Amino acid sequence: MRHGVSTEKARLAGLLHDVARLCSPQQLIDECSQRGMSIDALERSNPVLLHARLGAELARERFGVVDPDVLSAIAKHTHGDATMTPLDCVVYLADSLEPGRNFPERAALWELAQHDLAAAMHATLASMIRYLEQRGLAPAPQAAAAMSAFTPGKEPEKLPELIDIVREAALDKKGEDFAAIDVRDRTIIADVFAIVTGRSRIHVRSIAEAVAEAAERAGVHPRVEGLAEGGWVLLDLGGVVVHVFTPEQRSFYNIERLWSAVADRRARSS
Ligand SMILES: [Fe+2]
Repeated sequence: MRHGVSTEKARLAGLLHDVARLCSPQQLIDECSQRGMSIDALERSNPVLLHARLGAELARERFGVVDPDVLSAIAKHTHGDATMTPLDCVVYLADSLEPGRNFPERAALWELAQHDLAAAMHATLASMIRYLEQRGLAPAPQAAAAMSAFTPGKEPEKLPELIDIVREAALDKKGEDFAAIDVRDRTIIADVFAIVTGRSRIHVRSIAEAVAEAAERAGVHPRVEGLAEGGWVLLDLGGVVVHVFTPEQRSFYNIERLWSAVADRRARSS
């Protein structure tokens, strides 16, 4: 174990991280679409970028991997993300800095990664972004967010600020019954679930769009699911996952009670 990361998890993530890499561009688009996964403009013009997130899905479906730590590392191995665990970083760096890569600072970055994961993440992301920009290519927003998160001296997570941004945008659109649940001890999916209700599907969409725009303005690139359907829109902002429901869907799924139940079960079994 190094950097507090399980060797077994790192090995499994390393083994499966490129499981979707040989899919054709059209297959990547089709497979992601069939699973209801969001595809942003950059991914649509460069479908190969989807292989990381699709890879996590295939690892789960075809290889029975259920460990969220491993799935997260697979999903984030191409771009990084605003919030990354040490395992995410190890897999990202192992892939970006493997000896087959041929760029001048690779060996120095590899050396740095042996003893300072955060510094290696920042320097590697900066190198990758510089490489793209010199060629007139835009880096993925997730890569820029990751580099920002690993900027020395900067708080890795600006959670309270992000929750305030979400709350303000939702309430500005007359969202109802806003709630924020701290799930840090219960899952690695997110630190906080923010939940808000819209009176109708149109209202839900309008709230979700306002939250997404506010997050973008704050430099967080959200992944959005369910916008077309409108009954339950999920926005993944990294540390904060926002659920916007119609009253019926909120009552049906009742995720507040679900997560409280998880907490209760954990408390009883500990
Ligand atoms: Fe890859």
